[in-house]
Amino acid sequence: MGRLMTTIAMVLMGAVSGAAQTDRHVLGPEPAASLEFLARDQATAEATLLDLADVGPAWRVRVAGEPASTWSVMLRRSSTLAVRAGDVLHLRLQARRLGDADAWIEAVFERAGEPYEKSLVRQLLLTPSWQTFDLPFAARHDLAAGEAQFTLRLGFPDQQVEIAAVSLLNLGPDVDLKSLPATPVTYAGRAPDAPWRARAWQRIDEHRKQGLRVRVVDAAGRPLPGAEVRLRLTRHAFRLGTAVTTGMILGEGPDAEAYRAFLLRRFNEVVFENDLKWPQLHDAGYDRTDKAVQWLRDHGFTVRGHVLLWPSQRYVPRHVAALESDPSALAAEIDRHLRRTAGFFNRRLVEWDVVNEPFANHWLMDVLGPQAMPGWFAVARQADPAARLFINDYDILASGNRLDTAHQRHFHDAIRGLLDAGAPLGGIGMQGHFGGTPTDPERLWIILDRFAAFGLPIKVTELDIEVGDDALHADYLRDFIIACLAHPQVSGILQWGFWEGRHWKPHAALLRRDFTPRPAGQAFIDLLDGPLATDVRLVSDADGVAAARGFKGAYEITVRAGGGEVRLTADVGDEPFAIDVGIPTP
Ligand code: XIL
Repeated sequence: MGRLMTTIAMVLMGAVSGAAQTDRHVLGPEPAASLEFLARDQATAEATLLDLADVGPAWRVRVAGEPASTWSVMLRRSSTLAVRAGDVLHLRLQARRLGDADAWIEAVFERAGEPYEKSLVRQLLLTPSWQTFDLPFAARHDLAAGEAQFTLRLGFPDQQVEIAAVSLLNLGPDVDLKSLPATPVTYAGRAPDAPWRARAWQRIDEHRKQGLRVRVVDAAGRPLPGAEVRLRLTRHAFRLGTAVTTGMILGEGPDAEAYRAFLLRRFNEVVFENDLKWPQLHDAGYDRTDKAVQWLRDHGFTVRGHVLLWPSQRYVPRHVAALESDPSALAAEIDRHLRRTAGFFNRRLVEWDVVNEPFANHWLMDVLGPQAMPGWFAVARQADPAARLFINDYDILASGNRLDTAHQRHFHDAIRGLLDAGAPLGGIGMQGHFGGTPTDPERLWIILDRFAAFGLPIKVTELDIEVGDDALHADYLRDFIIACLAHPQVSGILQWGFWEGRHWKPHAALLRRDFTPRPAGQAFIDLLDGPLATDVRLVSDADGVAAARGFKGAYEITVRAGGGEVRLTADVGDEPFAIDVGIPTP
């Protein structure tokens, strides 16, 4: 291997003393040259091993078209050294992209066979110039020599990459992972002075705020200067929501109380994480969730319905899943379920996800044919004429900066198909489960613009961010919300849970088990209490007028003059808000 490899190995060895250097090479001493190239699932890709002046032996890989998965094209090598759970490993490689298009590498260290347990999965966005990536990680499993594999997945659309100087060292269990150099996961636009921010806040001001004008008059209707006027936003018009469980809404005890206290303070919309899914309704019935809906509505929340049909065999009750060979019985079951469920909650839910994840889950469509989906929307509309009907899918925004992916295209086609068929589609749901590389704010806008062209509201329905880095989690949560608020067609953001004690990905929760905020939770609170709050105290001018700009939503208005006080509430919507407040003065 070239000079660079040796240098890297020596630098890393500097941190550890003892065993001979070669003992630590998990992939053998010359991994770059001994990687094996694989292209499958009909992927079109070619690879050449070159010797480049600046980096030594390097792979050049070209991918044409869109491979079925990221692992349809890869460079691979089995381990030649055992690793034990807890060992600290250090992967280093150099890479660059050729050409103008985005290019990615997904680096993986995993068991070389079922169940492919992974210790490392990292997406790397390449630049046109050579970049060194340092990726230290801890092994999660004991894997004998040959039992693990290292893969560089390259199955991203139309890309050309070069990879060199790959080394993977096992530094053993006694090295502090944090002491090693590490290329941070990050996203473009994260810097406090990134140019997108000014544009975002300008658009937020334009689309989310409204002029507020209070004219204070005395008992005789004459303008009253010098009155104290306070305008306090108590609830955003923009929907800020979260998934909840019926159990926590109706539950007793300190956890349930703390859960509801945070919910009441910080959110204005909810969705049930599982309680309205077909199998759950089939098993548990409607009564408890009905009570939870009642409680939520009594406390001023809007409630989304999730989900009428998640069209996979796995996500329907067992007796329904058994009807594959009897399409008419299957269609009848669906019809009954739609009418019963949408009918039961008629006018009490603001929205329904009628169909969930049609890209990956399409068993019902396969069995019943393409006209089935528009038909489900029509039936849901009959059963609940008020709810806005959504189609919902994942990896639309959370596409790791990739644009026009197969998943995005499929979603676009599905929406087009529904509209062309005259289905009463009322909204576009984008889930927003982020892992790996967060999508840059300006890329979010490109994706949102593409779907906004349908003229329907877009809602982020299931936001969670699991990135294994508290600071990144906090920054991205804040920036994601800002970016969405800045897009006029986004009508709300629902997080997929907020408390570690009830979260499908506990590390993505805002609040720890003891309800203290994690950094992302604090970032959320700071955003709400800071730039997203409106609470202004003014003094009326010579014309009795106090004017400001504030977020659309529900307000509490307090006017004080000459010892008298008037307090009222008002809704500020799409029209500039102006009101005369008469105040009785002695
Ligand atoms: C998940 C729930 O969070 C889990 O508790 C449950 O075990 C499985 O479903 N996309 C969706 C949601 O539309 O319904 C899923 O919710 C998460 C992915």
